Amino acid sequence: MSSSMDSVGVARLLPGGPVADRVLGEVAAEVVALRAAGVTPSLATVLVGDDDASAGYIRIKQRQAAELGFVSPHVRLPASASQVDLHRVIEDFNADRGVHGVLVQHPVPGGLDYGRALQVLDPDKDVDGMHPVNLGRLALGLPGPVPCTPAGIEALLAFHGVSVAGREVVVLGRGATLGRPLAMLLAQKRSTTNAAVTVVHTGVADWPRFARRAEVLVAAAGVPGIVRPEHVRPGAVVVGGGVRYAGRRLLPDVDPSCARVAGAITPRVGGVGPTTVAMLFRNAVGAVRRAVGG
Ligand SMILES: NC(=O)c1ccc[n+]([C@@H]2O[C@H](COP(=O)([O-])OP(=O)(O)OC[C@H]3O[C@@H](n4cnc5c(N)ncnc54)[C@H](OP(=O)(O)O)[C@@H]3O)[C@@H](O)[C@H]2O)c1
Repeated sequence: MSSSMDSVGVARLLPGGPVADRVLGEVAAEVVALRAAGVTPSLATVLVGDDDASAGYIRIKQRQAAELGFVSPHVRLPASASQVDLHRVIEDFNADRGVHGVLVQHPVPGGLDYGRALQVLDPDKDVDGMHPVNLGRLALGLPGPVPCTPAGIEALLAFHGVSVAGREVVVLGRGATLGRPLAMLLAQKRSTTNAAVTVVHTGVADWPRFARRAEVLVAAAGVPGIVRPEHVRPGAVVVGGGVRYAGRRLLPDVDPSCARVAGAITPRVGGVGPTTVAMLFRNAVGAVRRAVGG
């Protein structure tokens, strides 16, 4: 564990930006090598409906994809599209050997089922790492795309010299996107994981008792301000993963006053978010490698 466990005061910040820059630099280098070998990396995107925020996220990812040297075929379906329409688009991308990764922007409009659509996707093209086959691979420690936010948190901790091996990590939340896959990831038998992981949720009424034990506390609940200083062991590392949006305003799970008690903490903005996006592209380049047998 870093020296942050030894001191109490104003917490050291753990920004995600430098971590993302390093990962994206590695991805860019791999794309150059793939292109030199005659492969054009391709990350397809699918957007359903007219939600401004979703359209904005897709634009950011497409811009980033272009900067990294990916081509990015895009399909936009109207909000009136049926589940079958969505499946057809995904199946077309599955069948297209020139497309290596596919991103279906989440959430999809009310009448559609994202989970069902995900099951239609070829697991090897799943850059979010959320296909049931990929969650199974994660559970078994097999290679494959890892859900982006958990993978980003592992990278963030490793980058900042926070070792979790042999340490008590408490994850608040067992959601499919973050808490559950993060718990599986951090319990894996590897040097940057190997943690003693406890997962708490609404079924554990006295979750603060567990949180106060944590050497590393990860908030993954999506309940603004749920983690307060009295839940933090002095000197612990606090990672804020859960967020909720009120319009454009970001409301994090971790109350900023936790910085008074924690030894190290992710910043309110620019913590886990940038690493999540970087991991999407790490998964995308992994999908290219799988497709070309590299
Ligand atoms: N920063 C990023 O880039 C990024 C990326 C993806 C997701 N996220 C955020 O991560 C969060 C988690 O997403 P998710 O999809 O994995 O989870 P989710 O499905 O929204 O589930 C939330 C989890 O938190 C638990 N929880 C909620 N309120 C609680 C309370 N009062 N006390 C104890 N536990 C409570 C729930 O317990 P039960 O299971 O008992 O209901 C559940 O396990 C969301 O806020 C999401 O926005 C952030």
